[in-house]
Amino acid sequence: MSDTAVAQPPETKKDPSRQMSEAARATSDLIVSPDVYAHMEQLDTAFARLRAEDPVAWCEPEAFRPFWAVTKHADIMEVSRQNKLFTNGEREMLSYETAEERVYAQTGGPHLLKTLVQLDDPMHYKLRHLTQDWFMPHKVKTREEAIRTIAKEFVDRMEDMGGECDFQQDVALHYPLRVIMQILGVPVEDEPMMLKLTQEIFGAQDPDLMRDKSLSEEGADADKGLSSIQETLAQFFMYFTNITQDRRANPKDDVSTVIANGTVDGEPIGQLEAMSYYIIVAAAGHDTTSASTGGGVLGMLNNPAQLKKMMDDPKGMSRTAVDEAIRWTTPVKHFMRTAQEDYELRGRKILKGESLLLCYPSGNRDEDVFDDPFEFRVDRSPNKIISFGHGGHMCLGMHLARLEMQAIYEELFSRVKSIELAGEPSFIRANFVGGPKSIPVRYKF
Ligand code: HEM
Repeated sequence: MSDTAVAQPPETKKDPSRQMSEAARATSDLIVSPDVYAHMEQLDTAFARLRAEDPVAWCEPEAFRPFWAVTKHADIMEVSRQNKLFTNGEREMLSYETAEERVYAQTGGPHLLKTLVQLDDPMHYKLRHLTQDWFMPHKVKTREEAIRTIAKEFVDRMEDMGGECDFQQDVALHYPLRVIMQILGVPVEDEPMMLKLTQEIFGAQDPDLMRDKSLSEEGADADKGLSSIQETLAQFFMYFTNITQDRRANPKDDVSTVIANGTVDGEPIGQLEAMSYYIIVAAAGHDTTSASTGGGVLGMLNNPAQLKKMMDDPKGMSRTAVDEAIRWTTPVKHFMRTAQEDYELRGRKILKGESLLLCYPSGNRDEDVFDDPFEFRVDRSPNKIISFGHGGHMCLGMHLARLEMQAIYEELFSRVKSIELAGEPSFIRANFVGGPKSIPVRYKF
């Protein structure tokens, strides 16, 4: 045995007097299971029980380090807005304990990348500031015409398909990809590769989306899982290293040019920071919006009265319908924070060093905030969605996502004469980002 110590994830301190409640014992394995996220009713039931019986619940699920599950809207906000006290750097998302150990052993820390969601201030703020302006409403607005043109192309494509398609696979999946790739300045011919790579990162737990299908089998090798993700990242790196060189030589009006030429404290940003930046914008900008675009359409197809309201007045209804789609689908299922000090939350004593799981789908069904939270209503207003998070890490692309979705809902529902489900929809198995995988539809234009 070598005497060189291998870096390990921090042990979560355990208070020996702390026990999981009955509600936590019944639900903690469910709320981390990728499979359960493909069956939202099961998840909704688990979260409803936690909100009612143990809203800040100590959970020790099999195969994961323990955490506090934060399931009430107000508590998710309270944690999210205190970015110094509750940080991202140590553990920003759920990962199997074995996978965390392997990343530590390889990198000496918790991450393979340095994306915005893995960083804390001051570095987080400085990097975010580089592209922030690009995603503010005034700047997003300047791209509205281009976005509406893309929305029209996709609805034209749907019309050309005759009267049946898979709305998720044929429309919702590709439309936001085209928008974000245009903003990054990635050419159309490279989109299929980008789609595959972003899905391998975000849908990494779904056997249909993962790079190495054998990883979905029981007892799959965690080392193999890590090297599969690393292969995906290596491909991203190769691609964006070329983009960086190009944009340094030939600056353009795109986000890649901002990243490639970005400086922090007067120095160019490092290679890992730049690569991580491209990856977070490419990946976060696509699957999330695809999921909520499809999820909202599915919400309407399952509620004919809501569909009718939308079809009767697509322009008047699109703003509220989009936020309801994003609440209903909640594409990002969680982020995590780590407490830097002891803290009392809803009467529970969180200890310094412990992590908290911010359960966005639960916050979005919180009975204290939403009337009839389990009803899908295209005209819901007010609608205090927690889907984009809150505080210093609040989604950078939320104005873009809303505009994109408004554009395609207006285009689709002002043209389609009838639309209905033509088969059983299915959902992505992933506990981080997910939504519909397939929505078979029949329609007339
Ligand atoms: C962060 C959700 C679309 C880029 C986040 C966070 C959530 C989220 C929950 C973390 C917030 C927190 O920790 O408090 C969503 C949803 C979307 C969406 C539901 C679509 C409906 C987009 C788009 C982009 C984007 C279109 C394109 C640029 C980002 C980035 C971050 C982020 C860069 C990291 C921000 C930071 O850590 O400072 N998003 N997002 N997102 N999102 Fe989105």
